[in-house]
Amino acid sequence: MKMPRAFKGPIERFGPRVLGPVFEIAKKVPFVRERIEREYAGMLRGMESELKPYRHDVPHYTSLPPEGRNREELLAVMRRLAEREDGRWKDGLASGAVYHGDDGHVAFLNQVYALSSQVNSLHADLWPSATKYEAEIVAMTAAMLGSEETTDDVCGTVTSGGTESILLAMKTYRDRAHRRHPQMVVPVTAHAAFDKAAQYFNIKMVRVPVDDTCRADVKAVRSAINRNTIVVVGSAPSFPHGAIDPIEEMSELARERGVGFHTDGCLGGFVLPWARRLGYNVPHFDFRLPGVTSVSADTHKYGYAAKGTSVILYRGKELRRHQYFAISDWPGGLYFSPTLAGSRPGALSAACWAALVSMGEDGYLRATKAIMETAATIRSGIMDIPGLRILGDPLWVIAFASDEFDIYRVLEEMAKKGWSLNGLHKPRAVHICVTLRHTQPGVAERFLDDLCAAVEAVRVQPITEGGIAPVYGMAATIPFRGAVTDLLRRYCDLLYEP
Ligand SMILES: Cc1ncc(COP(=O)(O)O)c(C=O)c1O
Repeated sequence: MKMPRAFKGPIERFGPRVLGPVFEIAKKVPFVRERIEREYAGMLRGMESELKPYRHDVPHYTSLPPEGRNREELLAVMRRLAEREDGRWKDGLASGAVYHGDDGHVAFLNQVYALSSQVNSLHADLWPSATKYEAEIVAMTAAMLGSEETTDDVCGTVTSGGTESILLAMKTYRDRAHRRHPQMVVPVTAHAAFDKAAQYFNIKMVRVPVDDTCRADVKAVRSAINRNTIVVVGSAPSFPHGAIDPIEEMSELARERGVGFHTDGCLGGFVLPWARRLGYNVPHFDFRLPGVTSVSADTHKYGYAAKGTSVILYRGKELRRHQYFAISDWPGGLYFSPTLAGSRPGALSAACWAALVSMGEDGYLRATKAIMETAATIRSGIMDIPGLRILGDPLWVIAFASDEFDIYRVLEEMAKKGWSLNGLHKPRAVHICVTLRHTQPGVAERFLDDLCAAVEAVRVQPITEGGIAPVYGMAATIPFRGAVTDLLRRYCDLLYEP
């Protein structure tokens, strides 16, 4: 999807404001639509072999086998697939993704999961153990995030992940506020889950810029708050640049104006309290600040639980009640559910509880120390590579960019060496989110050696045809964002192609 040169002038002049709607109208014309679809298909074809590597290797089902397959055979196949996929993340080649991953820890969580794989937390009468685990996960997370330093009752629920915690928090503020035109004030660097909440719950998203340290601009926050504002959001830290927004000032502004303040601690909730104890300069971001009225913190990231849990915390039960769903006139009986899901996987809560309790404070301190030290090595190594610069002043989520070459080509070269890093937009950058996998001996050194070699390769060959660099490049520059989101939706379609 190359942009003709002749378009560049008007595109730069009018930008997305004009061309976005023009694109939306143009694609309704059948031959234009056909042409666009062909372009999309061409771009996705290149990704298909990578996304569907097993099509010809293992049995393939598009309808149920007439007779159930032998369990041992199935296990053998599934073991083979897992073995093929385990290498990269176990060796620490992924940014984020798996946060602990030690064999012993994983085996322990699997044992716990097996004990309760049939448990549905919705049925508190059948499985009061699930209720115990969830209540204690919430209490332990709240205590870590300052509940003991406030007289307010900090409470919450266990959810399926960071996105659900954020969705629920935004819905909660919307339902509490009862505004006809609710708005949320959100830094541009906040996680996409806030955009999802805005779309799902019909809340207007008011974006505020960040400054050159990648932190939210407090002045812009002040002027963005109006009588329709239901909540202000800050990240601790943000996904793209690992920057901690000025939560103290932002939450005070929210408090003065009588609106809620949500700290997105999905990434940092289980790191920052321990980093502070270790002597790192960590500003307050949680319930120690009186203006903070909710915090999301992901147990399935640096809480080291299995995938599928997070915690959403609120200042006060009155606020939390707006999250719940309850219905009394359904023929199926009295029905209530505290979170988005109906039935909930009790085994994940059990494994989460076991992760928290088996780690303990000393475990989190040790893990955080190792991560901070490895991240410092990686950060200073990146700073020593000519042509790269670090964005902001990060602790362990390290974004780097270049003013000399296409950073997405570096991403591509790193991918060839097996690394799964994240490409960022606005500005163009790449990040690595350091986890315990990177603290294994030699991983940080390998990362830096590979990065040096990748930069050298890009200097020799700055442009390539195909690959991910042009796709990222297009997504970063194309003025009609509709084309990019269309492409992403087709990518979703591809995921569900058998
Ligand atoms: C800061 C932040 N918030 C929210 C999320 C969303 O979490 P999840 O992917 O668990 O839904 C992430 C995920 O990386 C994140 O980094």
